[in-house]
Amino acid sequence: MVSTSRAGGGPAPTPVVRLRLEVEGIPRELWLKLESYSPYGSVKGRTALALWRDVEARVDPAAGLVESTSGNLGLALAALAAAHRVPFTAVVDPRTSAALLYDIRALGARIVTVDTQDGAGGYLLGRLDRVRSLLRERPGLVWTDQYHNPASPNAHTTGTAPELHRQTRGQRMSVLVAVSTGGTLAGFRRYVEESGPDWELVGVDVTGSAALGGTAGPRLLSGIGASRRSAFLPDGHRPTVHIDAQEAVTVCLWLRDTAGVGVGGSAGALVAAALRRFRADPACTSAACLCPDGADRYLGTVYSPDWRSAHGLTGTAPLPGVRLLAADGPVPRTEGTG
Ligand SMILES: Cc1ncc(COP(=O)(O)O)c(C=O)c1O
Repeated sequence: MVSTSRAGGGPAPTPVVRLRLEVEGIPRELWLKLESYSPYGSVKGRTALALWRDVEARVDPAAGLVESTSGNLGLALAALAAAHRVPFTAVVDPRTSAALLYDIRALGARIVTVDTQDGAGGYLLGRLDRVRSLLRERPGLVWTDQYHNPASPNAHTTGTAPELHRQTRGQRMSVLVAVSTGGTLAGFRRYVEESGPDWELVGVDVTGSAALGGTAGPRLLSGIGASRRSAFLPDGHRPTVHIDAQEAVTVCLWLRDTAGVGVGGSAGALVAAALRRFRADPACTSAACLCPDGADRYLGTVYSPDWRSAHGLTGTAPLPGVRLLAADGPVPRTEGTG
């Protein structure tokens, strides 16, 4: 875990790496904002802090907090709950990374695992049922509710999005954001509406997710996608790109082997979507991906040859028409130099 606190208060901006690529013979710039450098190792560190501040005044220190999580938010909330000496229950599922479960447990949180599929390609609906039954059983227990709490998108409208805008020097670009609850994308969307950066904001989801509409089906990656529509984006989002697990995994391995950057499966999906946009539009020369987390959480899945072959995914493959020219970064780490 990387501490990013600053003497002036508030977390430091997460670093941005800039890749210079040639895609279909045209030079392009791909900015990767590495949220693995957020407190607790993922973009959910920002969300967790906002959720905690929202519920703090009504937390009963004996009953504590509960949340349904695919892992990243659970770790961040476990750390905050431990720091404030309140109990925390993380309701997870079998896709939650073993590394995250280890860290959540080490912080003293209770883990409840829901292991029956919800009939919509995941475990989300079962996790939410379990949260509701825990709330009935334990009066005073508080649910941070990352699925509806406006504190989640607000954290990105006021924090993550303007930070990226400054770091990329207000440049015109496509900005790609992964979707699960839709909190991050909804927060970015409000920033675009209110502050008008010259961005094409692209939602990125996985095949089989219903987060932005459509019917839910089988999914493999954790952290991205959902069994139901996002309450933050009830009418979906345009443009949205759907990526399958093979494409996301291929890009993760390519980034590791070619650029030396280790990102999670969601970020693989984001970069795959950015490459699709580059290929489709010769005039699209700059894109930024908000990479939610790093490779460390996926050593037993995306980065494991055994896991890949068990799920019928092939290993490293070249990316047709894509050549890495240079990797610069991290650029600029501090806001003032943007
Ligand atoms: C791995 C991963 N993918 C995708 C997302 C996007 O999540 P949401 O739509 O819930 O903001 C997150 C958010 O933190 C994440 O950690």
